[in-house]
Parts: sequence; C-alpha cells; structure tokens
Amino acid sequence: VEDSKDSLTPRPPVVCVMGHVDHGKTSLLDAIRQTHVIDKEAGGITQHIGAYMVTAHGQKVTFLDTPGHEAFTAMRMRGAQSTDIAILVVAADDGVMPQTVEAINHAKAAGVEIIVAVNKIDKPSANVDRVKQEMSEYELIPEDWGGDTIFVPVSAKTGEGLENLLDMILLVAEVKELKANPDRTARGLVLEAQLDKGRGPVATVLVQKGTLHVGDSIAAGSCYGKVRAMIDDKGRRIKEASPSVPVEILGLNDVPNAGEIFVCTPTEKEARSFAETFISEGREKLIEDTKAKMSL
Ligand code: GTP
Ligand code: NA
Ligand code: MG
Repeated sequence: VEDSKDSLTPRPPVVCVMGHVDHGKTSLLDAIRQTHVIDKEAGGITQHIGAYMVTAHGQKVTFLDTPGHEAFTAMRMRGAQSTDIAILVVAADDGVMPQTVEAINHAKAAGVEIIVAVNKIDKPSANVDRVKQEMSEYELIPEDWGGDTIFVPVSAKTGEGLENLLDMILLVAEVKELKANPDRTARGLVLEAQLDKGRGPVATVLVQKGTLHVGDSIAAGSCYGKVRAMIDDKGRRIKEASPSVPVEILGLNDVPNAGEIFVCTPTEKEARSFAETFISEGREKLIEDTKAKMSL
C-alpha cells in the first residue's frame, strides 16, 4: 500500500554534489555552509559522504558531498540514488574529466535533475564556454545555447554565483513538488558508518520516508538495534528526524555498509529478523519482505 496523497507533506530536496576529483565539490559546499569542513579532511580528499542541511530563502536543502576519488565510485553511485538533484561540479580550468563523465552517467541512470556548476571561474585560465562545449557532447546543452540544462558559473573561492546556484536548486525543487509522509515508520539510506571508540557503531543516515525517533527499533543492512541517540549535522542532539533530514544515529549492534537501506520496525526482535534476512538472503529479499510486512 503506497502512502495516500493526503498523507504527503512537502520535504526538502536532497542534492548530491558530484564531479571529478579536486574540481571543488567540498569547497563549494563549504562556501555554501560558510564553515570549514575541508580543514578537517585528511589531505583534502573526501573520504566519505558528508551530509548537511542549509537554509536558503527560508527553505531547507539537504546536500550530500560524494567522494571524487576513483576508489569511491561505488559509493558515489549509491549517493546518486538517494538524490533528487545532482550538482555536477566541473572546474572551469580543467574541463570535463573521466569522473565527470562517470558522474553524468550515474545522474542520468538515477533519473535525477542535473544542474552544472562551472567552478573556479576566479582562475585566469577559466574557460566556461569550453566546459559548455564539452558537456554538450554528453547531451547537457546549456539553456543559452538552446538546450534545457542549467549551467551556473561559480567560484567557491570568491563566492561568486553561489546565490544563483541556490536559487536554481530551489527553482528545480519547486517544480518537482517533492513530498513524503512523515507520519509512518521511518525508512531511508545509510550514507556512511564507522566504529567510534567511545560511542560504538555510528551511522549517518538519510531519512527518506516517515519520522525517525530516539527509541525506534531499526534494521540497517546486516545490522540492527534501537536508536539510542541522534545527532544532527550541526552536532546537536535531537529526538526526531523527518524526511530528507540526514542524522547520525547510535545504537546499532555493528557497522552497516554505506548505501544500505534502513527500516524501522515495531520491535527490536523484528529488526533483528530483518538483519538476519539480509545476511542470509540479501538485499533484494529484505526489500521484498519489508514491502510485504510493512506496507512500504
Ligand atoms: P575531492 O573530494 O577530493 O574529489 O575534491 P573536491 O571536488 O571536493 O575538491 P576540493 O573542494 O577539495 O577542492 C580542491 C582544490 O581546489 C582545493 O585546493 C581548493 O582550494 C581548490 N578550489 C576549490 N574551489 C575553488 C575555486 O572556486 N577557485 C579556486 N581558485 N580554487 C578552488
Ligand atoms: Na580534494
Ligand atoms: Mg571533496
């Protein structure tokens, strides 16, 4: 049984930032958030999917930062699948590179709306027209060239074009009329997870449907438990998370894989049985069982 139309409530867009290594994905997000995530990263290479919410013109937008390094291709693909809008970041001095093409393919395969952010326009060697030309070869034709793809020239360094980029995201999101039912058991995706010395398994999850609460029984891939605590992207302890909200959760028995689905269940025993199904019969069977048992 799908959620009835009446139960659907507007939710923030989930925007995945993708592109070739070092083209400025994290810097762009950082500039948008006006904080300093990049300083915390070893070697300036993103090791995982970061997830952040910002508020622009009073509207919330969830951003997912995906790794640009080749080793993280699989994770990037999962990132694209959890996304409404893909921002393809292309450095104006470097142009379309192999991982730009991969990102285009992932975004197209996932059927998400693509916005091209042509970054580093502050550089003397920047050539926006060349990027437009190269992207056109992948059927991403700029609006000003008669196509229907939005290109936004930006600089994460100077901040130029960032307001315009946010405006375009909000515009595309508005047209999509994104909705979800917050009044149901939660489900969503594991964005990243690791074992924390003091806190045990910690998973960053994106709620896609329903509302996740502290105390909920939860299965995530091969793992299960009860949500002991939730921390938002600003480091605050929160009690519940609605659709499109990324949140860190504590209380799983083990570390789930990035990209796995999570589901909440009426009891912890059921959560354990979902995890066991996942281990013995795999993801497809878990999804099938979830649909049958929980009207998802
Ligand atoms: P990975 O996550 O490793 O794939 O890289 P990324 O795409 O997140 O790029 P990142 O934000 O780490 O930036 C890479 C380099 O480009 C850093 O040295 C940034 O300072 C620089 N950079 C990013 N944006 C701009 C920009 O708009 N202008 C200039 N001049 N440099 C930039
Ligand atoms: Na980098
Ligand atoms: Mg990065």
